[in-house]
Amino acid sequence: MGLNHENHEEHDVKASSSPFLAVGKNGRLGGGDAHRVKIAALMQTSLPDAALRGRTIVLVGMMGAGKTSVGKRLAAALGLPFYDADEEIERAAGRTVSEIFDQLGEAEFRAGERRVIARLLDQPPHVLATGGGAFVNPETRELVSRKAVSIWLKASPDVLARRVARKNNRPLLAGQNPHEVLKALLERREAAYQQADLVIESGEGPHQATVDAILQALRRRLLAGAD
Ligand code: S3P
Repeated sequence: MGLNHENHEEHDVKASSSPFLAVGKNGRLGGGDAHRVKIAALMQTSLPDAALRGRTIVLVGMMGAGKTSVGKRLAAALGLPFYDADEEIERAAGRTVSEIFDQLGEAEFRAGERRVIARLLDQPPHVLATGGGAFVNPETRELVSRKAVSIWLKASPDVLARRVARKNNRPLLAGQNPHEVLKALLERREAAYQQADLVIESGEGPHQATVDAILQALRRRLLAGAD
């Protein structure tokens, strides 16, 4: 289920600063407060170990949401390898995504996408950027929910349309009005994306801001006791 991060903000900001407030003159944690002790212990643990417990992070969302750019930076921040599912599909097929759509059809692309993501999810923990349609597949969603922590990078059709205008490698947008197609696809896919573990807004700002928001959300999730 998506986590309503905004509701947790105030509580967690207070909670995460409490270990410092709790240190008395003798340098000990005061009050025997188990919650504070737990937080102090968590702060000694590295974020990926504690919040991810050996799981991969899967970024989902529409074309233009920034999954690849954010994913690369997030992987660097966490010291994890990065994979891009579309690139892996291209490598496996020996063709570009556009060529696969043109020559083999979308259904074949979707079957390859499902297989490639299933294979990647068996690899050691990493950050995985998926293509915009991947999380719509129920089998992929089920695998991701069992083996990974999923994050929906949520962006408005306006933001998406501006971002996709930089490249013309997306067959679903070729020869179409990108804003209209993106809006219609988002409406159809939103219910699937909402099933991600975390929802992070991906706005106009720099990708690093989105990475920082993800890291904060992972910390909050950990403090809230999610598994
Ligand atoms: C698609 C998104 C693309 C790529 C393919 C189909 C989609 O990936 O998988 O063109 O159905 O939304 P990005 O989301 O990385 O652009």
